[in-house]
Amino acid sequence: MTTLITGASSGIGEAFARRLAAEGYDLFLVARSEDKLRDLCSELSAGHEINARYLAIDLTKPNADQRCFSETERLEIDVDLLINNAGFGSMGDFAKLDIERELDMIRLNIGALVGLTHRYLGPMRERRRGTIINISSGAGFQPIPFMATYAATKSFVTAFSEAIAAENRRFGIEVIAVCPGSTDTPFFDTGKVGREFAQKGLETPEQVVETALNAIGGGKAKVVSGWKNQMVARIASLIPNSLITRVIAKQLRKKYQDQ
Ligand SMILES: NC(=O)c1ccc[n+]([C@@H]2O[C@H](COP(=O)([O-])OP(=O)(O)OC[C@H]3O[C@@H](n4cnc5c(N)ncnc54)[C@H](OP(=O)(O)O)[C@@H]3O)[C@@H](O)[C@H]2O)c1
Repeated sequence: MTTLITGASSGIGEAFARRLAAEGYDLFLVARSEDKLRDLCSELSAGHEINARYLAIDLTKPNADQRCFSETERLEIDVDLLINNAGFGSMGDFAKLDIERELDMIRLNIGALVGLTHRYLGPMRERRRGTIINISSGAGFQPIPFMATYAATKSFVTAFSEAIAAENRRFGIEVIAVCPGSTDTPFFDTGKVGREFAQKGLETPEQVVETALNAIGGGKAKVVSGWKNQMVARIASLIPNSLITRVIAKQLRKKYQDQ
């Protein structure tokens, strides 16, 4: 069994790699940071009886999903578990944010995820088995002013995953959107997402991984990590977006617009 994990060089993706290596899965790790991937593969291959390989690639670039797929074909790797985890966020007044960065976010959080899902679904259907875990976010439960692009990418990931799950269940393939809440990773620094925006009591990446792996075989196309985040999801589903967006905009306007 080989698991492909995008964004495996840190945070939740690295936690997936460590956990799955300990469980005996071969790994194919993808991210940009070649040094981190090389070191992680060496460590995990030496520490467990597994084969860990990597591809250092920027998934925002055109045809990155095709290059990734070609590499696993070349290495004759059958990907049984695909974990689309790579992603980043941003915060601020959309009109003033760097538009190229916002577009790269869409290319990574959505484009690469859709591309890789499509490419690996074909062989999974032929083998009549496979699992795809798409890391979404509680941010996708509702539109979020001053985090507009990120929240919308995650709404997409959840909706897309639920639809693809229904299309592929009859082929023995499971697709699961995993929605973590605030999790203690470098996400807040790399995404320039203020840590003050994080909910109190961050989850650990290992808790998110536990939620995701426990969901395999459970038949649910969407799981929310942690009981507090499940409560937030429940409450968010009861409040109209028009009200939620007004309240959040009022709270964050001072920091991101009126300065
Ligand atoms: N932390 C949270 O509070 C939280 C909450 C909900 C959902 N999530 C989601 O969880 C996922 C993992 O995030 P994390 O919290 O673990 O953050 P993280 O530690 O910053 O990890 C992000 C990963 O994505 C990779 N990545 C970023 N840009 C890339 C690119 N252009 N091409 C290829 N790989 C790229 C990074 O590796 P390189 O820099 O080496 O490329 C890194 O391995 C993301 O989808 C995020 O939206 C996080």
